[in-house]
Amino acid sequence: MITLDLVLRFLRHNPAISVSSIEKEANLSKGTLTKAVNFERNLNDKHLAALLPILTKYGYSPTLYQNARIISIINHKGGVGKTTTTGSLGEALAKKGFRVLMIDMDSQGNLSQILGIDEPEKQVVDCLISNDELPIYVIDKNLWLSPSDIDLAKAEIELIVSIGGVLRLKNKLATLLPQFDYVLIDCPPSLNALTSSALIASKSCLITLQPEISAVKGLNTLLDRIYEIRTNLNPTLEIDGIVFTMVKKNSVHDGVKQHVRESMTNFRVFETEIKHLVDFQKAQIEQQSISKFAENSEAAKLYANFCDEFINYLQIVK
Ligand SMILES: Nc1ncnc2c1ncn2[C@@H]1O[C@H](COP(=O)(O)OP(=O)(O)OP(=O)(O)O)[C@@H](O)[C@H]1O
Ligand SMILES: [Mg+2]
Repeated sequence: MITLDLVLRFLRHNPAISVSSIEKEANLSKGTLTKAVNFERNLNDKHLAALLPILTKYGYSPTLYQNARIISIINHKGGVGKTTTTGSLGEALAKKGFRVLMIDMDSQGNLSQILGIDEPEKQVVDCLISNDELPIYVIDKNLWLSPSDIDLAKAEIELIVSIGGVLRLKNKLATLLPQFDYVLIDCPPSLNALTSSALIASKSCLITLQPEISAVKGLNTLLDRIYEIRTNLNPTLEIDGIVFTMVKKNSVHDGVKQHVRESMTNFRVFETEIKHLVDFQKAQIEQQSISKFAENSEAAKLYANFCDEFINYLQIVK
């Protein structure tokens, strides 16, 4: 049997499917499913039974959407847009109706600060070194955060020396997955135990890359680490691809982008490029997400476009 939650989850993940066509095909009276999608009514067992074969025809399977997809936003190079991408992609996904949990795995705590959570009373580290559950703060509609600050740095040694330390994040997340569509983990600028914990917990990773020569030089080291984790600890870890961030219109950036697009043939380099725009820095100073700071700005639109491209890509690989 399918539940209403799974029906809604499937439809959120497949925006191209027409709700009214499904309604017709399942012989439901007009408006039944539309209202359910808008949380205006419930569906009974009869409705759900009628929907199951139709949704199955469109690609639904019971296991596909039961758990959130965990995605690490990663690059060991500092200042290449990991945190900005985690926050902005998380926000864009939440605006589309997906339930998103963001995890701040960086002891700099930038993601938490941007979202207005300074010196959180409970944070990720408390759960990694104890039996506590992950602390979850409500940020906005459909958007939650497990915050961190400098205390997380202390956990690293403990994670390294303790048995199964780097598995703890994965284990703590396991019970939460049915509640969310996406879990986005903001990784630190280092290939440390916290990054390993994130990659071990993840279904996939998204690499943010500033098109500078130095950033591209570090890419092979990063890919080697990802393959190492895949070989030894998380055999199903995938690379979603590379998104260019802080892109400027100049010959160096153009050349590096072209080189990466031509040489990285094993995975996707997303078409949407995040331009270097001062609004991102201003939003950070104001401790606001990009949409809250400047809703209709080019900066907010770029991440909304990237979000669309990303979701379409996930439809293909699922
Ligand atoms: N597209 C952009 N245009 C201009 N500035 C940006 C852009 N993206 C991020 N920034 C700014 O660049 C700085 C670094 O970005 P961010 O914190 O997202 O990178 P990071 O990879 O998470 O850094 P770290 O490695 O230190 O965690 C921040 O001040 C941020 O506001
Ligand atoms: Mg960061």
